[in-house]
Amino acid sequence: MSDKEIRDIDKRIDKERIREKDIDTLKVIESVFDYQTSMFVVKLMNKGIINEIGFCVSTGKEANVYHCYGPDNTELAMKIYRTTTAEFKRNWMYVEGDPRFKSYKKGTYSFIYTWARKEFKNLKRMKEADVRVPEPVFVLKNILVMEFIGKNQDAAPLLREVKLRKPNKVYSEILEYLTKLYERGRMVHADLSEYNILYFKKQPIIIDVSQAVLLDHPHAAVFLYRDIHNINRYFTSLRVETLTDEELYEQITDSPPSPKVKAIEF
Ligand SMILES: Nc1ncnc2c1ncn2[C@@H]1O[C@H](COP(=O)(O)OP(=O)(O)OP(=O)(O)O)[C@@H](O)[C@H]1O
Ligand SMILES: [Mg+2]
Repeated sequence: MSDKEIRDIDKRIDKERIREKDIDTLKVIESVFDYQTSMFVVKLMNKGIINEIGFCVSTGKEANVYHCYGPDNTELAMKIYRTTTAEFKRNWMYVEGDPRFKSYKKGTYSFIYTWARKEFKNLKRMKEADVRVPEPVFVLKNILVMEFIGKNQDAAPLLREVKLRKPNKVYSEILEYLTKLYERGRMVHADLSEYNILYFKKQPIIIDVSQAVLLDHPHAAVFLYRDIHNINRYFTSLRVETLTDEELYEQITDSPPSPKVKAIEF
């Protein structure tokens, strides 16, 4: 047998091995995810985006987040949107007015895929606006892969779980993010609070951005006012001397909130 023949046989065997490994991986993954999602996870592994799935960081209302390893053992977070949830009906209004997603197809799956893609795009746009968010890595169907915020498998805590030594400083940093989002990103987070900000290396990091909208969204002003209110409420509870909601709104947008915006109830 020639060297070439031997090499060819070895190649075939290796290929089969990979397949066997895939099947084993699939079995493990399938015990956690639904079949479709498992197939997408395997695809991400074959593409070399992720190498190993670790523990579940969080089981939320609309998604689960997993710790993963990527190439060179980089730590990654994989957010998997549930394909079965009523929450998405509620979320419809955040996509409806967004010109970037005009061509979505009707049907739950495609809507959830759009939602994941929207979070990916929003993360990118926020990063470009110089707002600290997890760096987006890849999006496939209902799976978003991004930078893991934390170290050595230890996820960073939520802002609300941290006893801040300098709350004034963190308040200013978040106001800076709000301004950059508005001025450079031309967008509003729309679900900002101490529950969607992580605290890592003494820095606030904004997460959970799928519902963020562009400024031309019909409810953008109301969403901004609500974000401002949530941040002010939280930092007031930490005895920070905050601006009023109105002052902050005007500082960010250069015009006072309209009576309609002010009339929203929290
Ligand atoms: N990139 C990340 N790095 C580390 N931890 C993360 C990352 N993204 C999310 N998490 C963790 O997972 C949790 C849920 O993430 P996220 O808020 O994006 O999803 P969600 O489905 O909206 O969850 P919830 O309903 O709990 O808000 C976060 O509170 C945070 O603890
Ligand atoms: Mg959240």
